[in-house]
Amino acid sequence: MCGIIGFTGTSQAADILINGLQSLEYRGYDSAGIALVQDDQTKVIKTTGKVAELRDKVAATEGTHGTCGIGHTRWATHGGVTTVNAHPHQTPKVTLIHNGIIENYKEVAADLAKKGYTPVSETDTEIAALLIDSLYEGDPFDALKKADDILEGAYGFCVMFKDRPGTIYCMRNASPLVATHTEDGSYIGSDVVALIPYSKDYFVVPEHHIVVLEKDAITLYTMDEKEVEPKMLHVDWDTTAAQKGGYDYFMQKEIYDQPEAVANTIMPRIHNGKVDFSADHISDDLFKDINRVIITACGTAMHAGLVGRSIIESLIRIPVTVEIASEFRYMNPIMDEHTLVIVITQSGETADSLAALRLANERGAKTMSIVNVKGSSIARESDYVLYTHAGPEIAVASTKAFTVQCCGMYLITMKLAEINGILNDEEIASYLDKFVEATKTIGPVLEMDEYIKTIAYKIKDTYSAFYLGRGLDYAVACEGSLKLKEISYVNSEAYNAGELKHGTISLVTEGVPIIAVATQDHIFSKTVANVEEVKARGAHVIFITDEDVSGYDGLYDDLIQVPKTDDFFAGFGVTVAMQLLAYHTTVYRGYNVDQPRNLAKSVTVE
Ligand code: M6R
Repeated sequence: MCGIIGFTGTSQAADILINGLQSLEYRGYDSAGIALVQDDQTKVIKTTGKVAELRDKVAATEGTHGTCGIGHTRWATHGGVTTVNAHPHQTPKVTLIHNGIIENYKEVAADLAKKGYTPVSETDTEIAALLIDSLYEGDPFDALKKADDILEGAYGFCVMFKDRPGTIYCMRNASPLVATHTEDGSYIGSDVVALIPYSKDYFVVPEHHIVVLEKDAITLYTMDEKEVEPKMLHVDWDTTAAQKGGYDYFMQKEIYDQPEAVANTIMPRIHNGKVDFSADHISDDLFKDINRVIITACGTAMHAGLVGRSIIESLIRIPVTVEIASEFRYMNPIMDEHTLVIVITQSGETADSLAALRLANERGAKTMSIVNVKGSSIARESDYVLYTHAGPEIAVASTKAFTVQCCGMYLITMKLAEINGILNDEEIASYLDKFVEATKTIGPVLEMDEYIKTIAYKIKDTYSAFYLGRGLDYAVACEGSLKLKEISYVNSEAYNAGELKHGTISLVTEGVPIIAVATQDHIFSKTVANVEEVKARGAHVIFITDEDVSGYDGLYDDLIQVPKTDDFFAGFGVTVAMQLLAYHTTVYRGYNVDQPRNLAKSVTVE
């Protein structure tokens, strides 16, 4: 949800800003812009469209020198996709970029109008710029503190004051900002991927603090201008992790990253036949005295939660609910100290998931999160955090983040089984062996890529598709369906296989693709019966299974036979097969796989 980059130092800023925006483009790609401090003026160059268009525009512009600047790539919220609405926004005294939403911008605009301030754009951001301009009387801290008191909503701001050339002031509420300093200068970004070409050591700007970027130093202050020591973090990701590495798209690369991401996530946590969370500092007490589990998340992460529900309920026998985070805080959920609330998130910054976590903390539940981005808000605010080790996920469509989130759910389930005496040591060791074996089916499924591509070709022109499954198969079918719809724009839905005939089967006509998932022995024949029902109505059935299907020839049009695993761990191969199907279908349809329309990677607004 908008990418932010800022630099002040000894190098020319334009390239640093544009390269940073390129790496942040997954956060929004409606428009992009930079501002460069040049002698007594600040030059703004902006355009609708992607960062590549900004790069061309900058290359065609005379005089793009300057060693201090800010850059922004926008995911439009208030105001259409126009150049005037693009950031940076400039007023007589300030140039500003913003990530987030100013909720009370109308009231603030009305007050400013009385003082003679008139915006030229339709954005909430320009109102924030005008507000800071109106409050600025030579003291940036005073103006920013007052603005922080007045503004409501989510914001990460980088502000350059006209009379303080070479210095960038930043502050945030909810929206992320990370910063670093090197010999070359000071950097700020909305995501660590923009900083890793320069440094792997960085800090997260705490909420309601001001960070001041200067050529020779970066300094963190409280709102009362007291200097505080930033808490440094280190990221292991290298620059190649955030590059395509020879693949056509990030999504394709990230699908192929999965064997490594999964191994990195699970192998350090399995010791002597047990799950070991000691390096994560997750106390065993977390898993004691729990009478219910609530998993809350959005989108793909919520689907990992569905996998979690399926496995925890079936093995641990405690009730689990999976709540969409954007609903959770408005439904007055029942929680107490015996409730374990698990928040799942790749970015760790999703506004709805963060709000759900805060509510769970307020109500005294035990909280833990499964997070990919180190030091993110959700990681910091949970009682405990289990980091997934997927590396940066750049494609808007989540792939490797999902499989490692599922791994996180399996590790937690095994720990619950151990602590609550559900399984003995020998049984746990055996489950963990099967778990590791199941994750190893990802490799052979990746080898089926060309074959799955031929199936994608057959469905590329479809208007709609349905995904079916029961139990665990339904959970992964939901994710398969989301993958297809979000990038290929095929109107795709996932259904519990038995539910289709209660209405939706009326949409099944000749040739409509039905992707049926059937890995669970005890309900295999039930799913098969449902598949027969759609086949009888002319559907094009793509059957994904790890079962022996000899004797079922007439059941399907295409078969994706994934390697057999224990039923409890059966989703990995199926998931990867569905990711590849969505990927190739989208490539055939001619869409940008990595940047589907209207979406952004990190949704930091409600
Ligand atoms: O960063 P998060 O995991 O919290 O993001 C949640 C969803 O926005 C995300 O999973 C989204 O559904 C995927 N990008 C879809 O592929």
